[in-house]
Amino acid sequence: MFPTIKFIFLVTTYTLLIPSIAFESESTDPIPEPWPQQFHAITIMNYTQGLRKVDLWYDWPNKRYMHINQYQLGKTLYDVEWQNGTSFYFTLDSTQECTIRHFPVGILRPNWLEGSNYVGQKYKDGFLCNVWEKVGFLQYYEDAVTKIPVYWHFYDGLVEHIMTFEAGKVLENSKWQAPAYCFKDVEKESRSLLENLATNHFRDVTEN
Ligand SMILES: *[C@@H]1O[C@H](CO)[C@@H](O)[C@H](O)[C@H]1NC(C)=O
Ligand SMILES: *[C@@H]1O[C@H](CO)[C@@H](O)[C@H](O)[C@H]1NC(C)=O
Repeated sequence: MFPTIKFIFLVTTYTLLIPSIAFESESTDPIPEPWPQQFHAITIMNYTQGLRKVDLWYDWPNKRYMHINQYQLGKTLYDVEWQNGTSFYFTLDSTQECTIRHFPVGILRPNWLEGSNYVGQKYKDGFLCNVWEKVGFLQYYEDAVTKIPVYWHFYDGLVEHIMTFEAGKVLENSKWQAPAYCFKDVEKESRSLLENLATNHFRDVTEN
């Protein structure tokens, strides 16, 4: 009997001491959760070309990133991004449109939110979130309990609501391949169509 009581006493004293120790040695601001190495998310985005449903595939080990943009009652635009700065924007329907763009930066690192300023807690879409600001780019909302992203708000007006988030989900290799017509000369007219739709905010955030 006696040893058990002593044990409980020790545990209680110990747990009571921990909070004050942690409090003194660390900043109390929460830190954004790094992105999983690989994930799939479905989002609803609102931007200048209207609403779209986005399938987002992030694949850091293979250094690639894809958006499949389904515009409301409109076209489906694929956007595959590689670490060497090349982005392919294309359709997979009979229009066979494709645009290739080159950026001076690679894709986002999982810890790209490091160094963001903590803004505080706000409710968004019914979820209590921790909010950070990446100065000049966006506000990032993360569920305060689950640490899953809920909402992104870029300063040029783009907003994105995260509907599903599956850590560890990987898109099969063949789906990343841009179609053959991306590697032929594309007519100027069909290029300009996609140029209007193709914008990439996360390339802008990248600083490597
Ligand atoms: C999308 O954004 C526009 C412009 O800010 C706004 O008027 C519209 O209500 C938004 N749509 C939705 C569904 O949030
Ligand atoms: C970048 O990598 C992709 C995928 O491997 C490739 O298709 C593309 O040609 C590369 N771009 C450059 C400029 O090397």
